[in-house]
Amino acid sequence: MSYKHQVAEKIADALAQQGVENYPKETVYGMLETPPNPAMGDIAFPCFQLAKALRKAPPMIAAELAEKISGDPLRESTAVGPYINFFLDQAAVAKQVIGTILAQGSAYGDSHIGQGRKVPIDLSSPNIAKPFSMGHLRSTVIGNAIANIMEKQGYQPVRINHLGDWGTQFGKLIVAYRLWGDEAKVKAEPIKELLTLYVRFHDEAKDNPSLEDQGREWFKKLEDGDEEALHLWKWFRDESLKEFMKIYDLMNVSFDSTNGEAFYNDKMDRVVTLLEEKGLLTESDGALVVSLDEYDMPPSLIKKSDGATLYATRDLAAALYRHESYDFAKAVYVVGNEQRLHFQQLYKVLEKMGYAWARDMHHVPFGMMLKDGKKMSTRKGKVVLLEEVLSQAIADVQKVIEEKNPSLANKEEVARQVGVGAVIFHDLKNYRLNDINFSLEEMLTFEGETGPYVQYTHARACSLLRRGNFQPASAPLAEGALDSKEAWAVITLLNGFPEVIERAADNFDPSQIGKYVIDLAQSFNKFYANVRILAEEEDIKASRLQLVAAVVAVLKEGLRLLGLAAPEEM
Ligand code: ARG
Repeated sequence: MSYKHQVAEKIADALAQQGVENYPKETVYGMLETPPNPAMGDIAFPCFQLAKALRKAPPMIAAELAEKISGDPLRESTAVGPYINFFLDQAAVAKQVIGTILAQGSAYGDSHIGQGRKVPIDLSSPNIAKPFSMGHLRSTVIGNAIANIMEKQGYQPVRINHLGDWGTQFGKLIVAYRLWGDEAKVKAEPIKELLTLYVRFHDEAKDNPSLEDQGREWFKKLEDGDEEALHLWKWFRDESLKEFMKIYDLMNVSFDSTNGEAFYNDKMDRVVTLLEEKGLLTESDGALVVSLDEYDMPPSLIKKSDGATLYATRDLAAALYRHESYDFAKAVYVVGNEQRLHFQQLYKVLEKMGYAWARDMHHVPFGMMLKDGKKMSTRKGKVVLLEEVLSQAIADVQKVIEEKNPSLANKEEVARQVGVGAVIFHDLKNYRLNDINFSLEEMLTFEGETGPYVQYTHARACSLLRRGNFQPASAPLAEGALDSKEAWAVITLLNGFPEVIERAADNFDPSQIGKYVIDLAQSFNKFYANVRILAEEEDIKASRLQLVAAVVAVLKEGLRLLGLAAPEEM
């Protein structure tokens, strides 16, 4: 239990003893404030709200209550006007926080709130035969971090890569391949070649509209199970997936399922039948739709006039499938903000079908990746290919290592961890709905608010432990060893880690942790710069190294949650 929770409990107990009801410790906890100036105390409790229940003026309440609240972890409680200001016994708190972290290690901050229930997370989900875009990168990175965070909260995440492997574009691609394709070229560079074919299809279709008809025909054939169509489709899918796997391997991301849109082919009739039975389908220009007029939304398109199904149909089938397969606590979709309407429509259709569990589905949107302030587009070769970005980042880090630490063991693996980590962290330190500007240079600096900075701080702390010959089972903290404002700042941050994780989970917001590890790294570096460690007497040194070890554990775990490795040397 964090010290703030302990104080809340003491206040709640004191209030209960005075017969005040409706102030359990969670409520009190929510009322606690941090005084604007540390000289006024570490925690403040305002008494305004209690005036009614106690029929007294708030300053009087504060004065009386302050006397009743004392003991570990408090050193002093004083009433100042309508507030009670609490001063913590910093030595007691330090002992408790550091002791807990060193005992629990990576389990520090774990919670059982999820009770092992499943949370399918729809993430990454690139489109077959197209380049892996920056949007898919964002989805991968944010989704993977959310999965880690949910797991830490005691849920069982199910990472689902809902591949865009079905749809009319495959009809077009088959037509293009049959007209102009070259097997060897596709094998050599599948994504690049398939994209070229796709772009050529659109160029030529401008003058030759019959191509579009052929595309539709071939997609229809595909949906009807035509052998040649299926064979080509499967080949495109396999080759594309091989390319995507290279990126996932570099990023160290894996999936529990790569059931993409095609997986739901044989599950869509059921959706259509259910919609029909529930009287929700209406015809519109020959197509079947579910009207959402009452929500001021455009209708959800279920079946085209030629019988072809759509993205929305497949998402409906997928939602039913996930509900039935996982009995989920929540279902999460990490998909760009531009699909907001699609997901709103999806929930509303499920709601109209009478599924209360639609409430537990969450679209987790994110903003765009910009380059020089402009949207990055996937069409016409203007793409920044993700694999190239990652290789470039790794190569840049390799150069730095060759310059600064050429004798480092594991150079290549560390360069990968830092290079890829830089790209991931650049995304996750920002609130996901913000657009972010792509800048390799900015991502890779070791001094700003970057992944390399946090990783480097962690490595420096590890090196301190090595040089100080830190022993995990250390003696109790020596008196006064951690009496400095720098140490206290680190300790309060360490104490707050579990709450940061909770907030990150509640809001599907990894940036809470991104910002936190930056704060912790900065705070630790201040401590390191201002407080002597290795040159101290043995017991003082050992105590300060305990704090360093606690920082190492929490930085490492924070980085892990975000999807970054924490090399011990770099
Ligand atoms: N493949 C889609 C795209 O690139 C994203 C799929 C998101 N997931 C879903 N269940 N709709 O736009």
